[in-house]
Amino acid sequence: MLSVVPSPVTVRAPSKVNLHLAVGDLRDDGYHELRTVFHALSLSDEVSVARADTLSLRVRGADAAAVPTDAGNLAWRAAALLAERAGRAPEVAITIDKGIPVAGGMAGGSTDAAATLVALDALWGLGLTRDDLDEFAAELGSDVPFCLHGGTAIGTGRGERLVPVLSRGTFHWVLALAKGGLSTPVVFRELDRLRAEGSPPRVGGLDSLLQALAAGDPHALAPLLGNDLQAAALSLEPALRRTLRAGVEAGALAGIVSGSGPTCAFLCADAAAAVTVSAELAGAGVCRTVRVASGPVPGARVVDNSHH
Ligand code: C5P
Repeated sequence: MLSVVPSPVTVRAPSKVNLHLAVGDLRDDGYHELRTVFHALSLSDEVSVARADTLSLRVRGADAAAVPTDAGNLAWRAAALLAERAGRAPEVAITIDKGIPVAGGMAGGSTDAAATLVALDALWGLGLTRDDLDEFAAELGSDVPFCLHGGTAIGTGRGERLVPVLSRGTFHWVLALAKGGLSTPVVFRELDRLRAEGSPPRVGGLDSLLQALAAGDPHALAPLLGNDLQAAALSLEPALRRTLRAGVEAGALAGIVSGSGPTCAFLCADAAAAVTVSAELAGAGVCRTVRVASGPVPGARVVDNSHH
């Protein structure tokens, strides 16, 4: 049966936080060998694709001005890549509604690319396999495969090789969004510099953290959160120390820099605690704005609007 896919197709694109991020050696290709635990969060973008005469991209939302609307945008590159591989012209209008902070360490650009792959697969009826999508995703960026998968997963290699992690229940988070962004390559380079000069802290093993996730226990998980990039992000943005302290003083179980930062992520005991922490943190004047989120959530998925 041939079904007609309505245009536009809209896909929800989750953000992520790294619960554990161990940065290993710098490789010859300029990437670092990673061992990380990705966790997909409900703070999301929405990506819509509609048939059009030519490839175009527009971005809506508070941070829209900071987002490129050409081949500098990973969603644009995703559309171009998929069209090339499918042997067709990229005649599609892409609209991104940004809810995820730009250059915030939450995979905002990567998840828009993952969502674009999923949306165009549906719009063009390509019938791509999971493996096809994974391969395109890994070509686009290290975090893009996880944004397709969602949930909670261990990432190795550049971060693109994934193994799902058993996680019980829902964890509740408060996110402190910073005024500016941080460039991921700059943060990795800062870590290399700090390591050449001394020995910034390194995260430990993974076993206890995986146990806390399986048990769904935020109190057990909190002290095990860790991110090797945090020292580099704090070195570039010393004010983040105050933000991290303020979240814990507001009642969070723990706070970490999300990925390469500068967003700070605070794990809370439950949903009610997250609301309290977010209100206190918003009043403390240590960040641009505050969001409540929960995880894990699924990866990039078509939004079912058949009921509207
Ligand atoms: O893969 P992606 O293009 O998102 O990575 C952006 C940059 O982050 C890379 O160019 C590299 O500088 C840094 N990076 C890294 N090691 C990784 C992932 C990213 O050094 N595993």
